[in-house]
Amino acid sequence: MTTTMAIRIERTGPPEAFVARDIPLRALEPTDVHLRVTAVGVNFADLMMRAGIYDTIPKGPYSPGFEVAGEVADVGSEVEHWKSGDRVVALMRYGGYAHDIVLPASDLFPYPTALSPAEAAAVPVAFLTAWVCLFEAAKADPNEAVLILSAAGGVGTAAVQLAVRHGMRVFGTSGAEHKRTLVVDELGAEACFDTHGSWEDEVRTVLGDRGLDVALDSLGGPATRACRRLLGPLGRLVFYGFSSAVPSSRKNLWSAAKAWVQTRPVHPLSLVQPNLGIFGVHLLHLGRKEPVLRVAMPQIFQGVTSGELRPMLDCTFPLTRDGAVEAHRYIHARQNIGKVVLSRV
Ligand SMILES: NC(=O)c1ccc[n+]([C@@H]2O[C@H](COP(=O)([O-])OP(=O)(O)OC[C@H]3O[C@@H](n4cnc5c(N)ncnc54)[C@H](OP(=O)(O)O)[C@@H]3O)[C@@H](O)[C@H]2O)c1
Repeated sequence: MTTTMAIRIERTGPPEAFVARDIPLRALEPTDVHLRVTAVGVNFADLMMRAGIYDTIPKGPYSPGFEVAGEVADVGSEVEHWKSGDRVVALMRYGGYAHDIVLPASDLFPYPTALSPAEAAAVPVAFLTAWVCLFEAAKADPNEAVLILSAAGGVGTAAVQLAVRHGMRVFGTSGAEHKRTLVVDELGAEACFDTHGSWEDEVRTVLGDRGLDVALDSLGGPATRACRRLLGPLGRLVFYGFSSAVPSSRKNLWSAAKAWVQTRPVHPLSLVQPNLGIFGVHLLHLGRKEPVLRVAMPQIFQGVTSGELRPMLDCTFPLTRDGAVEAHRYIHARQNIGKVVLSRV
């Protein structure tokens, strides 16, 4: 029986709750691929899963990890497009924090050879989420004004780059001055406001009655209500994250409940007169719309190859139990600009 090292959540808790185990590797089905994992993107949702504040988690012990870069080690008998040695990235619902994984061949994408595995692993979730929010949900047009909350984060830095490239007026928020500077000076946003300041007033001062066309909301709570107030006619609020429910590294149901209550339900009638739309996005639950990812991923990697888009890799930690602990602590401390990746090389 083949086994692999996997970094697991056996009970929810702080980052130190991670354990490393040797577990059996799933047998290769005809349409599967065995991947030797070289790098794993760490996402804020991994932190929420580990803390026990996430809606879709498997029963029993499991490894988090939505995205990996790796090398094909073996392919099932019906797999035609991949061969041993191919370097790929893959998207999955969980399970990426491991040395080896077996997954359907249809979950793989090639990545540009110029990228390191860690850079490649920093791309899929951030850029695809930003892509779906901007272009599939909000149907954003050039010259429209977009506000991107947590603009210096993983999804945020990708969204700023995609929106700037699309010719939009881009505004962001972030809680740290050096991050706000990067969002404007390096990523090309028009302005980036302090999350802890009066950013709602500041956006209103810049845009006046015109308002925002699009708001990408990854926070929830009072920020969602502020985004809604800032939207102009036919403005679209895309709600895709609930970071405000996790203010620290420990499970805090009081904070989660407070964020939930502060987000407040919306009655459809209240959207009519101001001509507003509210959209929810979850990258891994696209169902029959999943092919949009197959169209988007090559275009994103093409943008990376041409230099128009940049994988925002902040730093790497080893793909070990201790590396995962450190990576989660780092993101909880809000130190990351762009992505944190667990790397085996
Ligand atoms: N729906 C989907 O399919 C999907 C896919 C990917 C991600 N997401 C969601 O999108 C959000 C961003 O994900 P990410 O992986 O790119 O993470 P990220 O933005 O890199 O997360 C870290 C940053 O979020 C901000 N933040 C964290 N906790 C906060 C809090 N309690 N209050 C205010 N700001 C807080 C901080 O930014 P500043 O220091 O700059 O303020 C922090 O540096 C998360 O909510 C995640 O769950 C959703």
